[in-house]
Amino acid sequence: MISLRGVSKIFDNGFTAVDKVSLEIKAGELVVLIGSSGCGKTTTMKMINRLIEPSSGQILIKGEDILKADPIELRRNIGYVIQEIGLFPHMTIAENIAVVPQLKKWSSDQIKKRIQELLELMGLDPDTTARKYPNELSGGQRQRIGVARALAVDPPIMLMDEPFGALDPISREQLQDEFLKLQATVKKTIVFVTHDMDEAIKLADRIVVLHEGRVIQCASPREILRNPANEFVRDFVGADHTLKQLSLIKVREAMQSDMITLYADESIPAAMAKFAQGYRSMFAINRQGIVKGYVNKSDINPLQDGSINQYIRTPFSTISPDKSLKEALTLMIQRDAGYIAVVDDHGTLLGVISTNSLHRLVGEPYLEAEREVREIGIL
Ligand SMILES: Nc1ncnc2c1ncn2[C@@H]1O[C@H](COP(=O)(O)OP(=O)(O)O)[C@@H](O)[C@H]1O
Ligand SMILES: [Mg+2]
Repeated sequence: MISLRGVSKIFDNGFTAVDKVSLEIKAGELVVLIGSSGCGKTTTMKMINRLIEPSSGQILIKGEDILKADPIELRRNIGYVIQEIGLFPHMTIAENIAVVPQLKKWSSDQIKKRIQELLELMGLDPDTTARKYPNELSGGQRQRIGVARALAVDPPIMLMDEPFGALDPISREQLQDEFLKLQATVKKTIVFVTHDMDEAIKLADRIVVLHEGRVIQCASPREILRNPANEFVRDFVGADHTLKQLSLIKVREAMQSDMITLYADESIPAAMAKFAQGYRSMFAINRQGIVKGYVNKSDINPLQDGSINQYIRTPFSTISPDKSLKEALTLMIQRDAGYIAVVDDHGTLLGVISTNSLHRLVGEPYLEAEREVREIGIL
């Protein structure tokens, strides 16, 4: 969708703000440019809508060289969101949103309908909000209007320069969450600038780390956390990179589903035979696969009659496969549990999350060939 090929910007004073940046951004992708102040994020972004002209290199949108396009037309087809200052203070919210649709000569009915639609999309009441002026809104509401205005003519591309930068941390997180939901439905191609790594990790499909006008690393949030390209990126990511990784990985991806289980109505000798493989505990399920609890080997009297049903222990901790590993770990700490059953909405056992699964994904590679954990029927 957007290609930057060896793009540089040398300002009139001879300063190289952007130095041979190459990037391929796919349609529907959310790419975050990150780096310290002055590293060239804004300059890179402004070259995409030609608010700044590149000194050398090429920028293509859908294969077309943008330097050959009409810059005014180009800008009308690219949504642009910046910190608060973006709104015209003397115009109502409706008028602010209507700017580009009017330039595009939409009918007034069409514009009115679009304003209504966008305000609803942003979770604002159209009737009360449309007639207000920017200074009558909160910072978070103003920022939502900034996004609504950029989306007005439904452009395929959005450029967003620290759009949530001026907000307090709570409104900021709230807007990030809403923005992610919105993006899941509108699927714009987005270039998003921030200097906040947490924001980048949360929002990005891909993160581009810039330093002194150059691309230092370009990778998925997980890859950046797991394998920072150098000390600079490592410092930028911060010391809590392991915990950050846990918040990005879903339980579904990390669970082990090849565990051995017991049936609640299984005979004691059959259960003992399974335990004999070296396990200390196993989950017990009914014949429909619904988890009933767990059984500790040490509880079982092998001479007893009947099924292992009598030895099933409850309660036990469960988690949905769509939760993050961070939530799984929190639960394990809260319940002092070494493992948690992963279950679907019906209680069907899908897998197990253990401290071992966490370690396998985010831990440093082991020196030992393989660490054997045989606690919970996980091979
Ligand atoms: N018009 C200009 N003339 C000279 N230097 C500029 C100009 N605009 C920006 N710069 C410099 O280019 C560098 C990158 O700026 P910018 O892209 O705004 O950084 P960022 O958005 O990453 O904070 C900064 O050092 C800035 O001072
Ligand atoms: Mg900037």
